[in-house]
Amino acid sequence: MKTYEIENDFLKVCFIDYGGTIIGIYDKQNGHENLVISFDDVNDYIIEGEPYLNSLVGPVAGRIAHGQYELDGKIQQLSINSHINHLHGGQSGISKHFFKIVLINDYSALCSLRTNHDGDGFVGQFDYQVIYRLEDSKLIIEYEATPEHRTILNMTSHLYFNLSGDMKSSIEDHLIKIEANKRMTLHEDEYPLNIVDLETDDVFDCRNTKKLSEIHNSFHPEIVNSRGLNHAYLLDGSIYLMDEVSGRQLKLTTDAPSAVFYSANYFNDSYILNKRQRGYPHCGIAIETQDIPNGINVVDDKESFIYGPHRVYRQKTSYEFSNLIKGK
Ligand code: GLA
Repeated sequence: MKTYEIENDFLKVCFIDYGGTIIGIYDKQNGHENLVISFDDVNDYIIEGEPYLNSLVGPVAGRIAHGQYELDGKIQQLSINSHINHLHGGQSGISKHFFKIVLINDYSALCSLRTNHDGDGFVGQFDYQVIYRLEDSKLIIEYEATPEHRTILNMTSHLYFNLSGDMKSSIEDHLIKIEANKRMTLHEDEYPLNIVDLETDDVFDCRNTKKLSEIHNSFHPEIVNSRGLNHAYLLDGSIYLMDEVSGRQLKLTTDAPSAVFYSANYFNDSYILNKRQRGYPHCGIAIETQDIPNGINVVDDKESFIYGPHRVYRQKTSYEFSNLIKGK
């Protein structure tokens, strides 16, 4: 395993070839504090399954209900690796592969991978190219994937944020604003079930800024069942995450149609994170920009979820960090 870094005056981003995983995003203007959740020991990133800490995810991000979808009149069966569902590409997902890393210059790098996912029910070769690039106080991630045959494909970066810096506190007091008028409900087996409008009195409505604890402490059955947020929103604009104590703000903008918010609900004390701290639920929040998860089983326009030689998958997402107190 090798470690790489890119940096500019504002940010330093460290990552490894395994899963193209980011192992730290450091705020150079404010004490070099780490703005993501990180394992202390890089070897801990080599793990089967959960928690996909800051790794790239594909060929399919999120859950595909029962691992099944229909393609050209035939039912395709993917591996089942999360209860009754397929999750994050399975054992052979890109988070479990070594990428080839090329540093383009001080502030950008290309991660590439050519592989198959035969063991998880995907057909043919897949070519992935992901660029990490810094632009002032922004980290930009650009994805491109070309499958050899027609298939579903949906990529994300599983970054878990905690803006307090070095995980000084939980994310319960972080403020969130999501410019989204619709969200997806979750089946009790945790797969995205259907798309619903957000009403103003709805605990899931984040069009006006609210504290994450307000959502986590609600008795909404979907929050109780998943022990916090694990939900997709259909985006109409940007996402804002703020920590009033440090004054830090993350503004996330993407051309992907949705984002899944997962508040580390199953983190436990076996994880050693951010300078010898134990993991715990809600110590961070993953914001996973992507196509509508399980979309092929939910949305009428099935073809929009199919990629192949005829249609390259692309996504561009920008994470802009600023300090509202210090005016940067
Ligand atoms: C996604 C899923 C969660 C969990 C994480 C990885 O966010 O929706 O249920 O599996 O990935 O830990």
